Formats: sequence, structure tokens, C-alpha cells
Amino acid sequence: MDRKRTSILISGRGSNMAALIAAAAEPSFPAEIVSVISNDAEANGLKMAAQNGIPTRAIAYKDYSSREEHDAAIDAALGESGSELVCLAGYMRRLTPGFVEKWSGRMINIHPALLPAFKGLYTHAAALAAGVRIHGCTVHFVTAEVDAGPIIAQAAVPVLADDDEAGIAARVLKAEHRLYPLALSLVASGRAVLRGGRVMHYGRNSGDTGDVLISPAPPSTEPDTVDLEYLARFTP
Ligand code: GRF
Repeated sequence: MDRKRTSILISGRGSNMAALIAAAAEPSFPAEIVSVISNDAEANGLKMAAQNGIPTRAIAYKDYSSREEHDAAIDAALGESGSELVCLAGYMRRLTPGFVEKWSGRMINIHPALLPAFKGLYTHAAALAAGVRIHGCTVHFVTAEVDAGPIIAQAAVPVLADDDEAGIAARVLKAEHRLYPLALSLVASGRAVLRGGRVMHYGRNSGDTGDVLISPAPPSTEPDTVDLEYLARFTP
């Protein structure tokens, strides 16, 4: 199987990165993690990635004179590793429009809320303040507008009566660690494709997401369809 070469961009803790690395350690997973890049050399996730044998790079903004130059250095590193897909996992810098355009349809992000609600930071505090009874996380294709790209998959978790910010954050994070590998597998296998500003889904879903509502549900084990035209874009 042709596994899509995938890099992960991080800025800190790296727990979603770890979930992606763990999923991709399975040989049947349709993506392989070929590099982890951080804009912060001290990011905890860099150590974790290195311990898992993944090549790492720290590319700090302070070493460049503009956002464009910084993103160009990241793009060059992605090129060197032969990356075909990019996962943002807690990457805390805004990306330049040129970089976003270049990776359009091939770069995804995880956000800790059910978009389009609660964009930006402090999503759990915002959800508690708004009094929503269902919260969650979203994986979406990255577009120039932050947290506004086409949605690939979402996971919903309940807000409980006695929840505080830490409680709901932990419940959402657990869902993130299930959702992000699923979403990457959908994109890497050609089952979720960006077309005309929307995400098209191909293939059958199992309908079974266990104790968390995840949509779309993981692919079924029956023979499936994928978008062959999309997959052909990866062939040199
Ligand atoms: C996650 O909550 C993710 O949704 C958001 O930033 C956080 C990163 O956490 N974009 P981690 O570094 O993956 O642990």
C-alpha cells in the first residue's frame, strides 16, 4: 500500500502528534509520519517524536526576518522529507496565505471545539460560559482564515453538570486523540477530499463509533471506494 508521507507541525505538548505517530505505527495505516517540525526548540513534543524514531526539526521564527521567510523554511523542510500531507497539531503560529495555498487540500488541523462554534483560543472556557450541553473537536482542511476551513470530521462529547474547564478539556482531548488519526486516515486514503471548498466523503462507514459520537464513523472493513483522481495527485 502507498502510505502518504506526512509531517506534523507542533508548538508544544504534542499529545495529538503522539496519537498520530501511534496510529501510523500500524503498517496498514494509510499515512506514515516522516517528520515533526516545531517552531519552538523546547517543545515537549519534539522529545517524544525523537524517542519514537521520527526525524525532528526546530524552525524558530526569530531566526527569520519575516513570516514569509519562516514559512518558506518550513516548506523547504517539508520538501526535504518528501512530505505529501501536513498535520497541524497544536501549531500556534498563523501561516502565510502563500504557504496555505500551496498545501491546500493537503494540510489539516485539529481544533478543540465543534466548529464553527468557538474559534480561536480558550474554547473550553467559552463553551462553559455559553452553557452548551455538547462540546467536542473538529478536524478541518486549513484555509487562510483561521479555524474556518472545510470540516473533515467531528467528535462530540457531553458537557456534564459539574464540569470545570479542566474536566471538559480532558474529555475533549481524549476525543481528539481518536478523531485526528481517523481524519488523517480518511484524507490519506482518498476517502475525504477537498473539492470546491467542501469535503467530499467516499466509501462506506461502519456506523460504529463506540462511546463517543464521531462523524463520519470509521470506515467499514468491507471493500470501499476512494477518490482515485485525488490519489493520483500524489504520484510524481
Ligand atoms: C489541542 O487541544 C488541539 O486541538 C489544539 O491545540 C491543542 C494541542 O495539544 N489545536 P497537543 O499539543 O496536541 O497536546
